[in-house]
Amino acid sequence: MGGRIVQLSLKPKEGRSRGLPKRPVPELVVTPDGVQGDFNRWRTEKAGGDPDQAVLLLSEEILRDLRAEGWPVQAGDIGENLTVAGLPADALRPGVHVRLDEVVLEVSKACDPCTILHTLPYVGLERGPAFIRALAGRRGWFARVLRGGTIRSDTAVEILSTGADGCRIVRDAEGLNTAVWPVRADRLVTPVDQFFTRSHASIPRIDPTAWRLEVDGLVDRPRSFSLEELRGTFPRRSVRATLVCAGLRRDEFLSLGPLPGELPWGPEPISTGEWTGVALQDLLRSVGVGERARHVEFTGLDEVERHGDRFGFGGSIDIAKALSAEVLLASELNGAPLPAVHGFPVRVIVPGWIGARCVKWLGRIRLAEEPSMNYFQTKAYRVQRELNLRDPRDVSAGTAMSGVPLNAVILHPTQDQVVPAGRVRVRGWAMGAEGRTPTAVEVSPNAGGDWVAARITIEGASWAWSLWEATVDLAPGGHTLAARATDGSGATQPRTLSETWNAKGYGNNAWHRVAIRAE
Ligand code: MTE
Repeated sequence: MGGRIVQLSLKPKEGRSRGLPKRPVPELVVTPDGVQGDFNRWRTEKAGGDPDQAVLLLSEEILRDLRAEGWPVQAGDIGENLTVAGLPADALRPGVHVRLDEVVLEVSKACDPCTILHTLPYVGLERGPAFIRALAGRRGWFARVLRGGTIRSDTAVEILSTGADGCRIVRDAEGLNTAVWPVRADRLVTPVDQFFTRSHASIPRIDPTAWRLEVDGLVDRPRSFSLEELRGTFPRRSVRATLVCAGLRRDEFLSLGPLPGELPWGPEPISTGEWTGVALQDLLRSVGVGERARHVEFTGLDEVERHGDRFGFGGSIDIAKALSAEVLLASELNGAPLPAVHGFPVRVIVPGWIGARCVKWLGRIRLAEEPSMNYFQTKAYRVQRELNLRDPRDVSAGTAMSGVPLNAVILHPTQDQVVPAGRVRVRGWAMGAEGRTPTAVEVSPNAGGDWVAARITIEGASWAWSLWEATVDLAPGGHTLAARATDGSGATQPRTLSETWNAKGYGNNAWHRVAIRAE
């Protein structure tokens, strides 16, 4: 997938100018510190020269649309260094690598429109807010420089990893929470560039040579491991596991009422990876599990802010799960080092448990008698079925989430899709609880009135989803399809949303329903 450069731009430091608009130049020399000779007061003075903001890219198509809306915006005006054209709409997003001949950039985060845009002559103070509004959803993208060099105006723009299969839905301004939809129903393992991403704060930049994992608390021999020590001390282990966001299918709950402050995820934040690293049980045995240890707490090296406190994202799992063979400290995903967005250099993988316990950018493991006191264990990721009327967002009285419930989702057709009437192929995934594979999946052509058995097309391992398909006969008109699964324990899924509703909208595993039209 490729595009071309429309303009290269920079603005040197001049007096008290703030760096806008940038001016066209024939070439840019980029290094991890940024674009040589370019000045941006905000990046330099407020963001401390953040390497994640080394270069700013913007699609010409955005400028074209703005011009059509009456803003005479030129390349370089928004502050971008590279104005590029010819890329698909979702090509630029966090984690994507962009090659420009010898230079390789990694898109790091969205650049939100800044207030100094009013200094553009055709904007001005009065029209500033209207211009910012016009930019809503039209983002420039910051990138870090993985390999520096010179970019010329005839350099080709090549996207090295693509989102060609579906569209990437970006659920927050910084681009930290994203997922591809539709999800393909014909492959078990999700390619890395199709993985969902869920982060509560910016991605920390970690120097792998300086990284240390602290292991302490109720252990006989507290210890700190370097990456090399971790790899050299313990055997390599792999597990195929599906990572499930606790907020999967939360949007369906919105039909019952609002869920303030929660991301309205649909069925897209779920991906399956081949994770490789070392087994947590091997590491715990090497340091000696203290007799009183009942919980294992993980803390990440990111910095989340909640109610004025800054801390690493974290949570805990019970000691029995921690000592089971499948829990990994993973440093590879699908045979390559973990990308920064997925937790480089090391993250926890707790197969069968909600994604939130799979702490990324792992910095510390602590054994304790009690569960973690981390915000994401005590105040979030808890199922509470009664609203706290004084504070509807408070779920501290609920139960901390652990395992992902049995679930089945229809991937194709998708909501509101129009399909040819007659025999319609319905495909999706199903996954049992606690590592069980589904023993039956059924599909209903009429919202649960009748059911036909689906066939498992690709069987997942214990900790991964299985893929299925069924055929239903549909007359012309509107139809609501439904799917439900049963697993080895005999358990099946709740019929209605109200049976599974909870205050923060977690773990929705009611029958999945999809309204479509046959013509
Ligand atoms: N680990 C850290 N350190 N910080 C986070 O914000 N998010 C968690 C978990 N681990 C998170 C984290 C959540 S809620 C999920 S669903 C998964 O990471 C998402 O993993 P992914 O971004 O690799 O898909």
